[in-house]
Amino acid sequence: MTRPHIRILATGGTIAGEADPACNGARYRAGVRPVTALLAAVPGLGEIASLDAQQILAIDSKDMTPDGWLHILSAARQALADPSVDGLVILHGTDTLEESAYFLHLTLPTGKPVVLTGAMRPADHPEADGPANLLAAVRLAASPDATDKGVLVVMNGTPYGARHVRKARTRGLDAFESDQSWTAAVPDGRFARLTPSTLPRVDILPGYAGAPAMLINASVADGARGLVLALTGHGSVPTDWEPALQRAREQGVALLRASRCAGPVIRNGNADDDGAGWLTANDLPPPKARVALMLALAAGWDASTLQHQLPGF
Ligand code: SIN
Repeated sequence: MTRPHIRILATGGTIAGEADPACNGARYRAGVRPVTALLAAVPGLGEIASLDAQQILAIDSKDMTPDGWLHILSAARQALADPSVDGLVILHGTDTLEESAYFLHLTLPTGKPVVLTGAMRPADHPEADGPANLLAAVRLAASPDATDKGVLVVMNGTPYGARHVRKARTRGLDAFESDQSWTAAVPDGRFARLTPSTLPRVDILPGYAGAPAMLINASVADGARGLVLALTGHGSVPTDWEPALQRAREQGVALLRASRCAGPVIRNGNADDDGAGWLTANDLPPPKARVALMLALAAGWDASTLQHQLPGF
């Protein structure tokens, strides 16, 4: 039987991290080790699948940007359009992995397996988790079970769907979690035909006790076309924010109520969303609501399409 062919796209992260000589190894630098060395550290990988690899970025994922997403998207679309490629593995830092995974979930064509993985310990750690994660990702991408599930993430032996996965802890190999089993994951790809050269700027503004309304004015003045409000509780808008939000709305800025808690923000539930012209995120957490809003604005969706579609993301 012929082995499936898997392409690996490496973007950096702790999985490619090494101790930083500048501080006597007390800290490490992400995105240092090349993908060829990462592959060489996993014996048996070639028995699961034939492989080719591309180093498309070499960054700490705290420095990922929307342009970086578009760069990954272009390489990933090219890979999936190649008839010789059966599945795709993307190596990524864990800090913003869920955002990149969700962006790709919405923008890649569905069908072939796409699996992101990373590591919590650098590559030169005596008990590095990267090699086992890479092995698990290739195994999953080579499996028919991963077909038509949309973008998946595998960490510490557990697969997750991109829509529900999140990095929940700063430490520990079990840093990722999801409130839904990956077996229930469904493909999306609703922006698979969108080919933007840039993405509109959308900022996330946090709600907290005493959060000043000038955050809204500053974002809008600096060019934001959308604001995701990561609010307290059920997406509660501080009263002091209302005039600034109204001005932003009048300038055509899309405003989306989300919550810093888990759980849904229900439209018109505790605010007059229809009257104020606010969008609602349902249960999308703020970083993923931002991804969805950026893509919807890039696609030119109008306000009513946005609100009609967003709760279904
Ligand atoms: C990063 O996100 O690139 C650094 C942290 C990590 O990968 O765990």
